Amino acid sequence: MDAKTTPGKAGSNTGTVTLTDNKTGRSWELPLMTGSLGPSVIDVRRLYSDTGFFTFDPGYTSTGSCQSAITYIDGDKGELFYRGYPIEELAEKSDFMEVCYLLLNGELPNADQMRQFVWDITHHTMVHEQLSAFFRGFRRDAHPMAVMCGVVGALSAFYHDSTDIHDPRQRTIASYRMIAKMPTIAAMAYKYSVGQPFIYPKNSLSYAENFLHMMFAVPCEEYKVNPVLARAMDRIFILHADHEQNASTSTVRIAGSSGANPFACIAAGIASLWGPAHGGANEAVLKMLTEIGTKERIPEFLKRVKEKDGHTRLMGFGHRVYKNYDPRAAVLRKSCHEVLDTLGVRDEPLLDLAMELERIALEDRYFVDRKLYPNVDFYSGIILRAMGFPVSMFTVLFAIARTVGWVAQWNEMIEDPMQKIGRPRQLYTGHARRHYVPVAQRG
Ligand code: CMC
Repeated sequence: MDAKTTPGKAGSNTGTVTLTDNKTGRSWELPLMTGSLGPSVIDVRRLYSDTGFFTFDPGYTSTGSCQSAITYIDGDKGELFYRGYPIEELAEKSDFMEVCYLLLNGELPNADQMRQFVWDITHHTMVHEQLSAFFRGFRRDAHPMAVMCGVVGALSAFYHDSTDIHDPRQRTIASYRMIAKMPTIAAMAYKYSVGQPFIYPKNSLSYAENFLHMMFAVPCEEYKVNPVLARAMDRIFILHADHEQNASTSTVRIAGSSGANPFACIAAGIASLWGPAHGGANEAVLKMLTEIGTKERIPEFLKRVKEKDGHTRLMGFGHRVYKNYDPRAAVLRKSCHEVLDTLGVRDEPLLDLAMELERIALEDRYFVDRKLYPNVDFYSGIILRAMGFPVSMFTVLFAIARTVGWVAQWNEMIEDPMQKIGRPRQLYTGHARRHYVPVAQRG
């Protein structure tokens, strides 16, 4: 099979690729589609009906699953844009509520739109009181991500009035509910695990302050949120808010493509995020650093990684898309020092260990040849731990932040006229037709 490319004009879809079956000599023209940035795509939607062939791409390393105007990543340059705005600018100048508005609506809000949006989100932060009883069904030692999967999935049983996906108003309400309630549910999961009373949201606080308050306050004493920590939390939320068609977002889209309700789709996204190759990596990094323990043991650990001993990986390193550096990691590395300074942590052995591990890995041929660089999860755990979060909550924090991305991508999919149920095909390698043999006649 040969493929020849005729480029089209940027922004158009006039190019074609010619596909030739060398066996039969037959040729087909496949359209090329060009976006506003990034590589063009070969439109294979008619490939099977026209040629009888499928494409084969396990892990979707070369497949664009949808058209999207939300987030752009240039993996070679290490660039990440939300609606065209570079992540570094947003992390420095914006705040999470504004970023949420931007991701959902495509543009930055004016002052009135911003006020209204913050009011709407703030006034959806409480959860149905009966939901507190739902928590009591979990064991106290349940992993908070297990609790998140269950409780967020259960929201569709509590909020029936916002599950009609064809009604834009209901979609907006469901989206606001999830963005608003996720910190409340996450803090409840934590409080349940430590046996403390749930703390209700407080409308006078910002999104990040409110979350920190629900996490760390107790009813018997006043708790003042440290503004530097609130800012660091807000920045962590911004950095994790969306990341194009990653595993959990694709899961949300696939779940939503069947017409499933939004709460069920986001619960599916949370389940996918939990894995250590994805959002679960922040927890895995901290466990890895603790296991390595001292700088002297780094070479021994890296030897195991390079020998692929027992699936050992350098957690917090490598990315499917970034082959230069992860811009989120660069922001977090800086933030890490700021937070530790604010907290008066002069000496954080895990940070020293992480920096040494990064230095050694970046000079090692194994990592250099495979273009493996620190990703967002490499430093986030160190900051979160210093802020007082238990390791098991790290991925939950990722889920809080990513909810807006999932919701924005889900809404975009529902509104896309090209949207179809996600239904990949396969290369079958099992038995051809054979006949049933009764058990007495089997050898
Ligand atoms: N440590 C050691 N080797 C690695 C690592 C790593 N962290 N990541 C990739 N490799 C090797 C891999 O063994 C393979 O080597 P070889 O060519 O010899 O077989 C090569 O690099 C390519 O790896 P891959 O698994 O084919 O790459 P991928 O694009 O499918 O995987 C990844 C991307 C993020 C799953 C992977 O790099 C990884 O497992 N990293 C550790 C987990 C992690 O930090 N995940 C967080 C990702 S960023 C946050 C998020 O968006 O969720």
